[in-house]
Amino acid sequence: MSTAKLIINDKEFEFPVFEGSEHELAIDVAKLRSATGAIAYDPGYGNTGSCMSSITYIDGDQGILRYRGYPIEQLAEKSTFVEVAYLLINGRLPNADELDKFNKRLIKHVMVHEDIKKLFEAYPPSAHPMAVMSAMAISLSAFHPDLLDPEIIDTNIMRLLAKFKTLAAFCYKKSVGQPYVYPRSDLSYSEDFLHMMFALPTEPYHVNPVVARALDLLLVLHADHEQNCSASTVRMVGSSQANVFASVAAGVNALWGPLHGGANQEVIMMLEEIQHDGGDVQKYVNLAKDKNSKFRLMGFGHRVYKNFDPRAKILAKAADDVLNALHVTDPLLDIARGLEDAALHDDYFVERKLYPNVDFYSGIIYRALGIPTNMFTVMFALGRLPGWIAQWKEMHNDPATRINRPRQIYTGETVRDYTPIDQR
Ligand code: ACO
Repeated sequence: MSTAKLIINDKEFEFPVFEGSEHELAIDVAKLRSATGAIAYDPGYGNTGSCMSSITYIDGDQGILRYRGYPIEQLAEKSTFVEVAYLLINGRLPNADELDKFNKRLIKHVMVHEDIKKLFEAYPPSAHPMAVMSAMAISLSAFHPDLLDPEIIDTNIMRLLAKFKTLAAFCYKKSVGQPYVYPRSDLSYSEDFLHMMFALPTEPYHVNPVVARALDLLLVLHADHEQNCSASTVRMVGSSQANVFASVAAGVNALWGPLHGGANQEVIMMLEEIQHDGGDVQKYVNLAKDKNSKFRLMGFGHRVYKNFDPRAKILAKAADDVLNALHVTDPLLDIARGLEDAALHDDYFVERKLYPNVDFYSGIIYRALGIPTNMFTVMFALGRLPGWIAQWKEMHNDPATRINRPRQIYTGETVRDYTPIDQR
């Protein structure tokens, strides 16, 4: 085994070095503090491996993303979201019988308790669907108490996976004031979601297969992304042995921020702003470079990818295909293309290796599918759910898991005496 040497004040310490299955190197600093008295300082955790994981592999320099070893390009082309969910959660692709059983379990658990509908009623119609979604995710733990019994955990995982779709569609129905539509067992996962979103009691709703396939693709591409902000949050919360509903609800909240899953909504708002401002993309590229401005190109840049995000590549092409198949023209697509082109030829973006990320084109496809902008981040959550569950399960079953508890470097006042109020 190789080792890494660290010298602090002329004293030498040795730490084990190990490799992942793709030969990524890690220095094991678990004993750093007890051996040296020092801690590792790494704000934003850009260099910190928080766990060992066999779920998702990313090589950000090469633009590689694989779930359980399968390239995202192959899964996007050949697989379905339910199959990918099985793969992420169980570690391997299902055979036909396993997939059938998995689908049946999803159908069995898809309905939510009728009392959950009363919770929706308490929210104003203007509430952001992510606020409601987060509350609904944690509310499931009130309806399905979790014990640390493996069988109950497994059932609750299936409940969460099945019901999240119903809750997401109900969030939309609530926001537009339409009656909730109950799930159907004869439709595929994505078809059923579209049915619950768009069916009305007054007219029959036929799911367009192009729309269902496009949605399924989007969900597949969002299904996991290793230790990102929301997945790490799920693990962090779960490390205290909080149940899967509570941990995933925390993940929903982490996802909402505009630097993470909330970026898909921000991208469309940015493209609309550019459109209303006359469509001058260069003006906005310049603004993004201006250090006196807080403006950033939303949907650009990534902590891990310093090359094309492979999901963005797939979605850039899918955006064309879907809009053509649905005979939709969206001027925002042209603005997005112009913006991408201007940024990719600009030294600022080239030097910093800033490329479009998954959120850059996803919103344009969601718009074409009829999904409103304020639901985009809920759609991301729906896609990311199997990843969160897989990360939670791996963390929960790993004997090496300890409660997550980072250290800090204290920079406040040193000890001082309390002063009475009249002497301050
Ligand atoms: N527009 C303009 N400049 C940018 C952008 C951007 N979108 N992203 C990064 N930069 C610049 C930074 O200003 C910084 O420049 P500097 O070195 O001169 O100070 C440099 O590039 C590095 O950026 P950091 O913020 O240090 O990178 P970090 O890894 O911390 O952040 C993040 C990554 C949050 C994704 C960032 O690129 C960003 O804010 N992008 C826009 C929001 C977005 O699209 N988020 C979705 C991410 S994907 C996802 O979560 C699904």
